[in-house]
Amino acid sequence: MSKMRIGVLGSGSGSNMQSVVDAIAAKSLDAEVTLVLSDVADAKILDRARRHGIPCQWLDCAPFKTKLDGEAELRCIELLKAAKVDTVVLAGFMRIVKPGMLKAFPFRVLNIHPALLPAFPGVAAWKQALDYGAKVAGCTVHFVDEGTDTGPIILQKCVPVLDNDTPESLHARIQVQEHLAYPEALRLLSEGKLAVEGRRVRIR
Ligand code: GRF
Repeated sequence: MSKMRIGVLGSGSGSNMQSVVDAIAAKSLDAEVTLVLSDVADAKILDRARRHGIPCQWLDCAPFKTKLDGEAELRCIELLKAAKVDTVVLAGFMRIVKPGMLKAFPFRVLNIHPALLPAFPGVAAWKQALDYGAKVAGCTVHFVDEGTDTGPIILQKCVPVLDNDTPESLHARIQVQEHLAYPEALRLLSEGKLAVEGRRVRIR
């Protein structure tokens, strides 16, 4: 099987991208991150990519504020294809991905969400869980579909919610699990071990 070629889209700190890069360096994931794109010009994820010598650039997504659409979507697909990306990893990408991207990379666009979906989709999910009074929180790696945080679930990891948690402490606990979950999901995908049957993803 040829080595998985990953393109990462992110808007923030890029700690999830880092976990993927680290898993590749540790040889627990047979893949290469070939391009990192960010809709935020000074996002830390771009600094991290530069530090690792990974080609990266800012993607101007105007005029849209919350989605990747129109010219920006076309440009994004063009850049990913030029880098021969076969798997698109959304890692803290704060925009909705539209059907054009999903058609360009069928069942090869993944996202990580900081909650146990289908609970708490959308932004600041860890804070939603805390405010709701949930006793268990976690993260979900899923295939992206046309909804928001609705695609078939690949894997989930749980953490307890503690009485003295703040949004920050809970998010930090969830992120420890995220950094295990994303490389694990990508390894399963790269080894051809995921079978999507409707909403269900079977691990072979
Ligand atoms: C993570 O909590 C992820 O679940 C969410 O956005 C955050 C990104 O963090 N989608 P980072 O940029 O990977 O550090």
